[in-house]
Formats: sequence, structure tokens, C-alpha cells
Amino acid sequence: MLPAMTKVRPVRKAVLPVAGLGTRFLPVTKAIPKEMLPLVDVPVVQVIVEECLASGIEEIIFVTSRGKEPILDYFDRAADLEALLERKQKWSELEIVRHVSEIARISSVRQPEAKGLGHAVLCARAAVGDEPFAVLLGDDILEGRRPALRQLLDVYERSAEGVVGLYQVPAGQEHMYGIVKGDLVDERVYKLNQLVEKPDPGKAPSRLAVIGRYVLPPEIFGILASTPPGRGGEIQLTDALSTLCGTQGLMGVEIEGQRFDAGDRASYVLAVLSFALRRADIGAAVRAGIEKMLSEA
Ligand code: G1P
Repeated sequence: MLPAMTKVRPVRKAVLPVAGLGTRFLPVTKAIPKEMLPLVDVPVVQVIVEECLASGIEEIIFVTSRGKEPILDYFDRAADLEALLERKQKWSELEIVRHVSEIARISSVRQPEAKGLGHAVLCARAAVGDEPFAVLLGDDILEGRRPALRQLLDVYERSAEGVVGLYQVPAGQEHMYGIVKGDLVDERVYKLNQLVEKPDPGKAPSRLAVIGRYVLPPEIFGILASTPPGRGGEIQLTDALSTLCGTQGLMGVEIEGQRFDAGDRASYVLAVLSFALRRADIGAAVRAGIEKMLSEA
């Protein structure tokens, strides 16, 4: 059993790597960052930022690359648009637009070359400094009663160790993820003893996959700096986590909630539908439309 609460350094900053090319979503990602794809009318990246804020994070650090400026523009003030909406007395639209630019303290660093997720996190080293921090990947959309990152932070606050988010994946899909092995120490909580990035088919130690939520101690930066390229010739975060697991220890928590993979076309469409169905303004109309489509199919 983990203790109720341990004295730990608070996690105030979240790193959101958004430098990926989004090749799984071509052609639209030729001109639009995949993080800007909408869940109805809200970009995926905003949903991730809101998860951070709902979990207690105060500052967002984007790791960007060429072509990702729309993400930073999105969270910036849009003075001309605001002036226009004010002139036209479109008050509710004005409030929505202002809300986005006031949502959080946001900064960004560049990842000059696509050298892997571990390298992207390392690029945020100076911006994070010497304190624990969170990492969230925009491909994993998690919808549930409690924000996914909050579930990790609860384990961090009780264990004082780094924590990764876990999800059981269907047999046969293990080669697409970082896979862990660990001992169950509390409800849904594991003390990890092995991590392997995208194991070859049949070689996975379990079906528990690392999904895009991490709470990490600052020591991970030193480890990343000396982690050699791994799978795919890239500097893998999973490899650095494996080292961390052997030195400081690492926990895993099986996330409660529904997971969508925004990098997968079918799963993305389901995420859009799920968000639409839960909306007070359009939920009923979408439900009726889907039922009609299915009955005529
Ligand atoms: C990354 C990580 C992998 C993790 C996955 C979760 O892989 O390297 O360990 O399981 O995210 O979405 P990617 O999907 O970027 O290839």
C-alpha cells in the first residue's frame, strides 16, 4: 500500500512535445499541425492543455518545430479579431476567443531536428529547470471522470517517484507502444521493473502500454543527455525511463477512462463523435443523426 501523502516537490510545469510531422494524417497535416485538428470546434491541443490545468499545472511548455506556429498563434491574443467581435457586439464569441488566450502561462522551445521523443523532452531542459514536471502527448486523448494527469499526480504525491500512465492494449498491438512489467502495489498502481520500447511481436513482457502521460523528476534530463539512440535510431524517452526505473524507481498507474488515439484516423473520428455526443448544444442532434445513418445503412 502507498502512503496517503508524502512531502514532494509540486509539479507546476507541463511539457507538450508538438514537433512531430503528423505523417499518419496526411494530406491535411501538409498545412495544419495535427495538434490543431478539431474535436468539433476545439483543437486537440486545447483539450490536452485543459487536462493540465484541471490537474493543477500552472505553466505549459510546447516543444515545437518548423510549421507549428499555428499552435502558438492559437493561444496568443488575437487583437484584430477581438476588436471586430466587440464592434459587432458578439459577446459570447468574444469571451470564447479571450478564454483561449488567457487559458495558461505558455512558452515554447524548438526541437531543431526530429531526433525522437526523448530528444524533444531534453529540448525543454532549460525551460523546466531543476524541478519535477509532466509530459503529455497530444495523440492520447483521455476522457474520464478524473483528468488522466491528475491520476498520475496522485500516485506521485504518495510515492515521490516518477509515474507513467498505463493502458491495457489489445493482444497483438504491443509492438506499437512502450510496454512495461511491474508489481501491483495498490489499486491500478504498479511499481515498475521493466520498460521496453516497441517490443518485437511476441516479445512483450505484458499488455500494459505506456500512454502519453508522464510525471518525471528533473534527473531524467541528465539521463536523456547520455541515452544513445534506440529504436528507429531515435533518442527514446522509454529508454531513459528504463534507466530511471533502475536508479530512482518508477511507478505506473493504469488510467481510468476512455482512450482515443488522435493519431489514428478511426480513433480520431470516434473521439470527435464522443465529444460531440457530450455537448449540450449539439449532442442530441448528433445522436439522432447517427441513429438515422445506422438504420439506413
Ligand atoms: C510514444 C512512445 C511510446 C508510447 C506512445 C504512447 O510512441 O515512444 O513509448 O507508448 O508514445 O502513445 P509514438 O506513438 O510517438 O511512436
